[in-house]
Amino acid sequence: MKILAIDTSCDETAVAVTSERRVLSHVEFSQVYLHKQYGGVMPSVAKRAHEERIDFVVDDALKRARVSMDEIDHIAVTYGPGLAIALEVGIKKAVELASKYRKKVIPVNHMEGHLYSSFIQNKNGNPVRDFSFPMLGLLVSGGHTELVLWKDHLSYEIVGETIDDAAGEALDKAARMLGFEYPGGPVIERLAADVDNNDIYKFPRPMRMSNDLNFSYSGLKTAFLYCIKKMSEDEKNSNIKNLSSSFQEAVFNSLMNKTEQAMKNYKVNIVVAGGGVVINKRFRFFLRTIANKYKIESLFPPFNYLTADNAAMIGVAAYYKAQAGIFAKEGVSLDRVPRLSLENPYLIG
Ligand code: KG4
Ligand code: ZN
Repeated sequence: MKILAIDTSCDETAVAVTSERRVLSHVEFSQVYLHKQYGGVMPSVAKRAHEERIDFVVDDALKRARVSMDEIDHIAVTYGPGLAIALEVGIKKAVELASKYRKKVIPVNHMEGHLYSSFIQNKNGNPVRDFSFPMLGLLVSGGHTELVLWKDHLSYEIVGETIDDAAGEALDKAARMLGFEYPGGPVIERLAADVDNNDIYKFPRPMRMSNDLNFSYSGLKTAFLYCIKKMSEDEKNSNIKNLSSSFQEAVFNSLMNKTEQAMKNYKVNIVVAGGGVVINKRFRFFLRTIANKYKIESLFPPFNYLTADNAAMIGVAAYYKAQAGIFAKEGVSLDRVPRLSLENPYLIG
């Protein structure tokens, strides 16, 4: 079953051609350089850039997969969560192609794609990894921080989530306070590695004592701001690596604290990590360490492009939806759902 998948939820115009769990081609046209000056993603700029590139990206993905539209079985598209006016561009293109070539549309939740990422294969069918439900999912990106009990294909329960900022967003904001451009996560990781991930400043570990599996990063962000405000410019600059490292340790410690609690609460054999932040080596070290402690296997997306936003993950999640007979109703407009939750993935419109 060949699927053409589209994701325009944020700042990547992404299209892929997939066949079951295999990726035949994937193209991501990044807009990061357009948004740098704003310190985050500017929705109107994202919308226009998606509109300008979507046709080219669709054609390129088909060409790279050596597949024509006639050979495509279904069209998958992200309908949330994400930026409303950015999502609309992908949905419009998917519906247009579906009616022109008489295909069905499969609506996919972006976070569902991040969960499936660890099970995606290259075009030769590697790596081979078996699903073993229930699994624990840890989704960490610029917009989300969620602990998910993944009960079966397409069946999810959110057992913990951030009550304010996402972990990636916290890293981006801290980096901005230190004078770096968006996205800040990779910069913080590099600076922290230079000082062996030390923790000199011991910033607060948010929500450590809360009796749930939720996260919070706004207090940590404020503590960081107060700390650097008290410093002279010279002092700040000469401590920039230590500051970055201590901040990253605080973010990851509080993530791992709740993830460990979730491992104790739920009987799972596998923990899967997904989202832009999980490319981070320090994050991976922490997650592997706690998973080993509970004899749980930790899985990460097998190729780096699968951690960031992409459409391959949408195509693979869509394959399981197609098998379950989940398609958008023909002739009914498919609406975007900017705050779509994993717990009601079939809500359309
Ligand atoms: O999943 P993603 O590409 O987009 C969203 O759906 O949000 O995630 C982007 C986030 C940004 O906050 C970015 O700073 C973070 O992922 N990120 C990283 C690293 N690379 C990207 N965070 C920590 N370390 C990295 N190396
Ligand atoms: Zn994402």
